[in-house]
Amino acid sequence: MKFGHFDDKAREYVIETPHTPYPWINYLGNEEFFALVSNTAGGYAFYKDARLRRLTRYRYNDVPLDANGRHFYIKDGDTVWNPGFKPTRTPLDFYECRHGFGYTKIAGSKNGVRADLLLFVPNGANAEVQVLTLRNDSKKRKKLVLTSFVEWCLWNAQDDCTNFQRNFSTGEVEVLGGAIYHKTEYRERRDHYAFYSVNAKPDGFDTDRETFLGPDAGYDAPRAVLSGKAGNSVADGWSPIASHQLKVELKPGESKSFVFVLGYVEVPEKDKWAKKPERGLLQTNPAMAVVNKAPALALQKRFSTVAKAMREFRALRAFWDAQLSHFSLSGTGDAKLERMALWNQYQCVVTYNFARSASYFESGIGRGIGFRDTSQDMLGVVHQMAPRARARLFDVAATQFPDGSAYHQFQPLTKRGNADIGSNFNDDPLWLVLGVGAYVRETGDAAFLEEMVPFDNSPTDKATLYEHLRRSFHYTVDHLGPHGLPLIGRADWNDCLNLNCFSKDPNDSFQCCTNKDGKNAESVMIAQMFCYVAPDYAALSRLAGREEEAAFAEREAAKMEKAICKAGWDGEWFLRAYDDFGHRIGSKACEDGKIFIETQGFGSMARIGADKGYPIKALDSVKKHLDTPWGIVILDPPYRRYHLELGEVSSYPPGYKENGGVFCHNNPWVIVGEVANGRPQRAWEYYVKIAPAYLEEKSDVHRLEPYVYAQMVAGKAARRHGEAKNSWLTGTAAWNFVALSQWICGVRAEFGGLRAEPRLPAHVKKATIRRDWRGVRYEIRVENRRNDGPVRLEVVSGKATVDGTLVRAARGEKKVVLRAVVG
Ligand code: GLC
Ligand code: GLC
Repeated sequence: MKFGHFDDKAREYVIETPHTPYPWINYLGNEEFFALVSNTAGGYAFYKDARLRRLTRYRYNDVPLDANGRHFYIKDGDTVWNPGFKPTRTPLDFYECRHGFGYTKIAGSKNGVRADLLLFVPNGANAEVQVLTLRNDSKKRKKLVLTSFVEWCLWNAQDDCTNFQRNFSTGEVEVLGGAIYHKTEYRERRDHYAFYSVNAKPDGFDTDRETFLGPDAGYDAPRAVLSGKAGNSVADGWSPIASHQLKVELKPGESKSFVFVLGYVEVPEKDKWAKKPERGLLQTNPAMAVVNKAPALALQKRFSTVAKAMREFRALRAFWDAQLSHFSLSGTGDAKLERMALWNQYQCVVTYNFARSASYFESGIGRGIGFRDTSQDMLGVVHQMAPRARARLFDVAATQFPDGSAYHQFQPLTKRGNADIGSNFNDDPLWLVLGVGAYVRETGDAAFLEEMVPFDNSPTDKATLYEHLRRSFHYTVDHLGPHGLPLIGRADWNDCLNLNCFSKDPNDSFQCCTNKDGKNAESVMIAQMFCYVAPDYAALSRLAGREEEAAFAEREAAKMEKAICKAGWDGEWFLRAYDDFGHRIGSKACEDGKIFIETQGFGSMARIGADKGYPIKALDSVKKHLDTPWGIVILDPPYRRYHLELGEVSSYPPGYKENGGVFCHNNPWVIVGEVANGRPQRAWEYYVKIAPAYLEEKSDVHRLEPYVYAQMVAGKAARRHGEAKNSWLTGTAAWNFVALSQWICGVRAEFGGLRAEPRLPAHVKKATIRRDWRGVRYEIRVENRRNDGPVRLEVVSGKATVDGTLVRAARGEKKVVLRAVVG
């Protein structure tokens, strides 16, 4: 069952009903001001940091779900409705939500009135712009009352939902003309305020939630809306809100538009205050000084007419079209595949922006940016925005410790490592090598390696970025266990494989609690990762003029491969790990958890033991034991009881999360492994099982957005097999883009050229792949005769050298067209 459709021409996903199985959301903003918006206009806005600088309030896990957002109420006689259906939930005659890149349009109509709402955050503006158009499609004159509504968050979102003894008393506002200003805590230590304005003179307003709602009422039936009479309230503590009320008369066929702006302003200390209160100003306490509104007024002026707002909207669309144009796929005859090529890149940008902070599954008040998470997110965006990837990699490296280990997370606003969670996740250092490798292969920017970067943000302890990578690599070499495999620490990529935890206390965090000295438990996955990144590290060493270190890396990788073949192979597949007692994890000898996906994926990507046929054997075991109609489960059989020696992985019910769910993050490792080992058609079969555009018809079971990946789909052991959770912010986005662009399309940035080795599925006979690389547009016209056959690459136009499947444009060339005949 579907709940909408792709409008490919408009580049939008069109949701046709407000009754989606879960709120289907989108993100606004790509710089410093961000907002989440669901298909019923729910969500919230923040500046830079979803925890520390939250602008509007959101209640999580609420009933009914997703009740907070930007609400527009339309009162037409006795009927009150919202164009986005919520919160009144008045049945609509027509409803549609269009999520596009960086914007959302919601349209609703009722009793002959149509409302069109456009929401976007323009580039270069700290504001959510809302253009609302009301049109009378009936034959009668309409007298409507339009009421807007947002609820302020008192800045720190964590405090806002816990510290009521303080924050019920602190709320302060000002009202002037069409603008409501939220200035709580501005007086003392803040240099910022927010406002909500409309480009018309309102007939009434409210800033006090209780006055607006009335006693006992919810957002579905506010007194100010039902009565059509705003309270003109000025908040004084409690819960400040912002609401405008406008009387709108429409002749048959007539329409009127309004521009609302939810803005954020910072004012330097010396300019904080206005000289005197403006005429007509209302505020919480008249004895108090008045905020300097000049920057807010400038922002309001920028969107003071619909024409101005729409100009900004067109600029935003042009921006996104350019942003997403550096890789594209066309002429395949498979619309779903081309949708994936586009929407997957959009998700990669969102994931880069938000890391794992703010979604409808991440509260925005929890963790900051993960060291390994963001290092992997780089893989999805380096081709689109290399300078931003460079800046982030710098920040990541600056949270590394002098011994090469790293803070597991850091805060985006302060860029400091998060001491609560600390360090000792032994895979972390290697992901940095992977991220920097991807960046340098993309850009050729070897100078980056010579940049000075601090350790643990210390102003005195600095070294070159190359030295950071060296310490990352050596951290693994220097922390090997009894079998010559890397010690796991608190966990590796699988956060829930806590082999040194041994916790019996429900108040312990599985990730932070360590009861063992960590000298025994080893990770086969880290060993494989080490082999996987070693060639990049060796190449980076050579770029940095360190031939000796490059040779060292190659020797160590060969040693590690030997250790894996000796102690990390179970006969039919790769083992997962050794526990603290030296027992095998992920072995046929185990009661549960006999086989894990991670080591089959990384083992086959790194082609460990290729001379012995291990990669193919491992991949065949994946097919046999882990494959399901909904993707590849992370392990099988799931753990049925709690294992003290394994930690969180055995705490989930069978089929969920790391205990046997389909982790969409590591399915692409198997997809890449299949292509790298010569089986592109099988790779494709896996690809379509989790690619959201191909799941659209099964949305009633899958339940989450068909335009983005979710982290997890319930596995075969779960009663709700096929049901997805945790959409949007997941390493799934970047890795599936790697699988699609670099392996299925076969276009990979290498240090010395662009690899073009398309391995498209058999049903795609022809395709055009466009890829910008180091300032040159490469257009590859593919003829796909037999997708596992040899690839012949030839230049059609433009000057370039071709060496097998590696191409490099001549100096000064801007466009190269190639023909690739496969099979
Ligand atoms: C709050 C605090 C309390 C303090 C009082 C006066 O009630 O909980 O500890 O004494 O405020 O500041
Ligand atoms: C989550 C974490 C990621 C981890 C994965 C598997 O997605 O963000 O760091 O690798 O779970 O446990």
